[in-house]
Amino acid sequence: MVSFYPSHPNTNLFPADGKGFPHFMLKEIYEQPEVVQTCLSHYLSEERFLSGSSDHFISSPLNQIHILGSGTSRHAGLVAQYWLEQIVGIPTRVRSASEFLSAPLPVVANTLTIAITQSGETSDTLAAATQQQASYSRVAGLFTSRLIGITNQPQSSLARVVDQVFPTLAGDEIGVAATKTFTTQLVVLACLTVYLARCLKTVSQERSHQLITELQCLPVKIAAVLEQQKAIIQEMAQKLAPARHCIVLGQGVNRAIALEGALKLKETTYIHAEGYAAGEFLHGPIALLEPGIPVIAIVMSDHSYEQVLNTVRKVKSHNVPVLGITGATVPSEASQILDHQITLPTTDELLSPFLTVVPLQLLAYYTAVQRGLDVDRPRNITKTLVVPES
Ligand code: F6R
Repeated sequence: MVSFYPSHPNTNLFPADGKGFPHFMLKEIYEQPEVVQTCLSHYLSEERFLSGSSDHFISSPLNQIHILGSGTSRHAGLVAQYWLEQIVGIPTRVRSASEFLSAPLPVVANTLTIAITQSGETSDTLAAATQQQASYSRVAGLFTSRLIGITNQPQSSLARVVDQVFPTLAGDEIGVAATKTFTTQLVVLACLTVYLARCLKTVSQERSHQLITELQCLPVKIAAVLEQQKAIIQEMAQKLAPARHCIVLGQGVNRAIALEGALKLKETTYIHAEGYAAGEFLHGPIALLEPGIPVIAIVMSDHSYEQVLNTVRKVKSHNVPVLGITGATVPSEASQILDHQITLPTTDELLSPFLTVVPLQLLAYYTAVQRGLDVDRPRNITKTLVVPES
């Protein structure tokens, strides 16, 4: 078995575990190639999503998809919303679980609801899923709708609420900041997307094979990001550490990653970080810019390229430096404009979130360490860990 643990920095600190990583968060970031591979093998296997014949957990016809979740799990839902709408063509709504009780989504015929929660114990998500299940029971017989759960803890309370549980198989996540559970949530959602696209024939056989092949390459590509971009990310963390505010920009499928990157920075470094869609940033938030506020932009050579670059140019015109997280094929004009650049391996543009999120996780980690913070246990936050009964 190939080991996905590359060399890692700073082993002088007291190791958090047997593998010598100074903190669980770093260990869990570095575990991503391995757990993504495990999760992919599980869901790409014949008897799971991609068989296309067995395991019919969706109702047919399928009119829409609702996604419920909180924090990082909600961000995984936002990435999936992009995939489900752009690849499968199914109207998809993502509702923050904490808003669901006061603003439930209308119950419509033939809906698949997906509750996403790493722990399976988050009270907002459980309450929202319970309410949705109660609504479905009231209309049972009139039409078919299903509620499924994606969780890292298949024995958790979520299992009692949903019709079917899909585990993320990431192993225990001890660091409070969700990292490997996020990328494995994306694996389940990506496999589900390809499965639905096949069932509903919204992509050609060739395109679905392309996506599966590219999914299978992700573990090696994530490992390459961890190994090759570490030095520049550590350097960036030193520059970011004194900041009080920070802005993260993304567009299209990477808008959710901008939100997720900002959340990781907020909770581990206590820097006030906000994520924005690069285009929308120009409509008001750009007034926030001043020289001391670092801007991080996800610049991919996809549909969003021109829009993101346009915003980066405007940011630069206010003398604000921009750190770019870019794809390897991004045109050289972007490299000339960006002050610093983290370059990622090439992948299918729709799957880029698997790679763009990794530098943001590392940046949050190294910046928190640089600021001398307890990176595994940020203040004011608790994390539910489900310990299985022996
Ligand atoms: C962020 C983080 C939180 C959780 C949120 C939902 O790193 O850990 O935002 O994502 O509290 O938790 P789960 O996924 O357990 O429902």
